[in-house]
Amino acid sequence: MTSGAPSPRRPSVVVHADVAALQAAAADYIGALLRDSIAARGICHIALAGGRTPRAVYERLAADSGIDWSKVVVLFGDERAVPADDAASNYRMAREALLERVTPRAVHRIEGERPAADAAREYDKIVAACEPLDVVLLGMGDDGHVASFFPATPEPPSDARVVATISPLPPAERVSVTLPVIRRARAVLLLVTGAGKAERLAEVWQQIDDGRPILPAARAVNEFGTCRWHVDGDAAARLPEAAT
Ligand code: 6PG
Repeated sequence: MTSGAPSPRRPSVVVHADVAALQAAAADYIGALLRDSIAARGICHIALAGGRTPRAVYERLAADSGIDWSKVVVLFGDERAVPADDAASNYRMAREALLERVTPRAVHRIEGERPAADAAREYDKIVAACEPLDVVLLGMGDDGHVASFFPATPEPPSDARVVATISPLPPAERVSVTLPVIRRARAVLLLVTGAGKAERLAEVWQQIDDGRPILPAARAVNEFGTCRWHVDGDAAARLPEAAT
């Protein structure tokens, strides 16, 4: 496991030998972020990521006896426009892996069963009341998207916190926090695994390093200088030595 030096401009990168090691380390790191936030402010607002990678991390988090979930407010970074019990629902994945096993102070679900624009408008108000988020968890798609903000997603109004987007992969209709919400968060954690993302992750790193972030994952480095990437060796294979 190695860790690059964090800086306001660059994420700190932690490379793990395999996915299981990444999932264990990420769960420990998230637990520490939750505890630090609760110790500092008596509460933690965390936005969960969807997709496949985080499931095992959430299962480990559920087993962490050192987290006072009564002081944790759970939000979602994005959601597919599907009902809560749909197999594609990010909420369903988090409910099965974590939320059925702990009792957070509150869980703010994105209402995927509603038209995406309506759900986004309502969720924008919830995120506004919770900002700045203490922790934002993200995965990265092989196109460099984070949450459900894709390379082709039109730039939203600068004051928008949550928008409806269209995914190139089904389910097409999505609801996503915007990149400024991620950048304003106190801590951002990006989880990336697999050789299929190595080239894109290296491209994202280069855009950040050049100071010309274009891809959403390159624009998801928070202003607190506490953006951390937990990646496995396969995903890190194309990163320059300086990154890790
Ligand atoms: C989603 C996620 C999305 C995900 C990436 C990576 O709704 O799918 O929020 O941003 O994090 O697509 O997904 P994997 O973890 O499955 O590779």
